[in-house]
Amino acid sequence: MHKEIGVYEYANNVLEHMKPGVFLTTKDKDVINTMTIGWGGIFRVWGDPYFLVLVRESRATHKLIENSMEFSISVSKDKQMKKELTICGTKSLRDIDKFKECNITPLKGRTIETPVIKEAKIHYECKITYKQKLAESNIIPEVKQKYYQSESNHSVYYGKIVDQYIIEEDNNG
Ligand SMILES: Cc1cc2nc3c(=O)[nH]c(=O)nc-3n(C[C@H](O)[C@H](O)[C@H](O)COP(=O)(O)O)c2cc1C
Repeated sequence: MHKEIGVYEYANNVLEHMKPGVFLTTKDKDVINTMTIGWGGIFRVWGDPYFLVLVRESRATHKLIENSMEFSISVSKDKQMKKELTICGTKSLRDIDKFKECNITPLKGRTIETPVIKEAKIHYECKITYKQKLAESNIIPEVKQKYYQSESNHSVYYGKIVDQYIIEEDNNG
């Protein structure tokens, strides 16, 4: 059952969940994937609510999000889905079907083509209105050395939040 929520109502709660991670789900044609993200959050720009995500170019997700220009974010209940977040944060679509491996279910999005993770609690559906590959010349040396020495660059995606809700378990039997 979908329960309506205010777009900023759980913003702090979501930020707290960014450390253990949240699910970033993407869909390009028939291919659906989800990965754990720890960086990003809800903010406001151009008069609208947004979810910002950073995706390294090496991720399978990168290609999917570039093609679809939309994504969903699913946040688990407190301290739950730890195992699933670890698998989705360490394994790639290139190697395994994470939905099968984690026993999680893609549930049809309400407003966008991309599904959300049914077993999680809070969901945001986002359409990308701005994207940018980080310009290496603009990154200060300390950050560059720490995060971009051995790993690929990040692309930043500004996803306009077009729908948000909680999925509650149906207790009607
Ligand atoms: C807690 C946690 C947070 C992560 N945050 C990010 C992130 O913000 N951006 C990113 O590109 N990768 C992040 N990762 C790594 C990806 O989840 C990981 O590389 C994943 O296997 C990519 O899956 P894919 O190749 O199927 O897209 C994170 C991993 C963990 C465990």
